[in-house]
Amino acid sequence: MAGLVIAMDGPSGSGKSSVSRGVARALGLRYLDTGAMYRAMTWWVLQQGVDLADPAAIAARCGEPRIVSGTDPDGPTIHVDGVDVAGPIRESEVTGAVSAVAAVPEVRVRLVERQREIIGAGDIVVEGRDIGSVVCPDATVKVYLTASAEARAQRRSAELAGTTAEAQQEAMARRDTLDSTRKTDPLSMAAGAVELDTTALTLEEVIAEVLRLVKERT
Ligand code: DC
Repeated sequence: MAGLVIAMDGPSGSGKSSVSRGVARALGLRYLDTGAMYRAMTWWVLQQGVDLADPAAIAARCGEPRIVSGTDPDGPTIHVDGVDVAGPIRESEVTGAVSAVAAVPEVRVRLVERQREIIGAGDIVVEGRDIGSVVCPDATVKVYLTASAEARAQRRSAELAGTTAEAQQEAMARRDTLDSTRKTDPLSMAAGAVELDTTALTLEEVIAEVLRLVKERT
């Protein structure tokens, strides 16, 4: 791997997106949101009426949609078969279904392959759950972001209109349990990753700490 790869893993609401985009901007790197790819696959599965409770049905069809991710940290994009799905993939229907789709091994094989194609020669910040452990174990820097359940829920409910922090905390806890207990590539801290607890830090402080780690390793 010639170029720089920064792997940013952690549970939902730990600040991965804001930190990853900030770091990519500061260093002039590309940015890939792999969660958006799992969400895009989920949007397509829902559109097609595939039964979410039937992993074999999802596996059989997951090779069909063409998922294209734009990697500009100032305006990341996501399209499925030419349709801009940036808005729909953030809606509750997709959020509620994504863990089930992301647990299907064939979905992961397909999306990990796409992710490795995009990472290519590097110079990119990649956020997800299994980037340092599976997608890019040779990443230059691996960061595992955490934050208290309260802080994560509060950040998410501030981003989403119409939800309370309590409701968010419950929904996030459910998703985190599914994401970290699934059989294939569960959310876990990769070997060689640096854990960064962001509970008491501002976004700028977290970005500065990641930039310091990058400098130390390069
Ligand atoms: O980061 P996010 O909330 O947009 O991710 C959506 C879902 O996708 C999350 O519940 C777990 C799954 N995911 C995954 O399994 N592996 C990744 N690399 C990224 C996300």
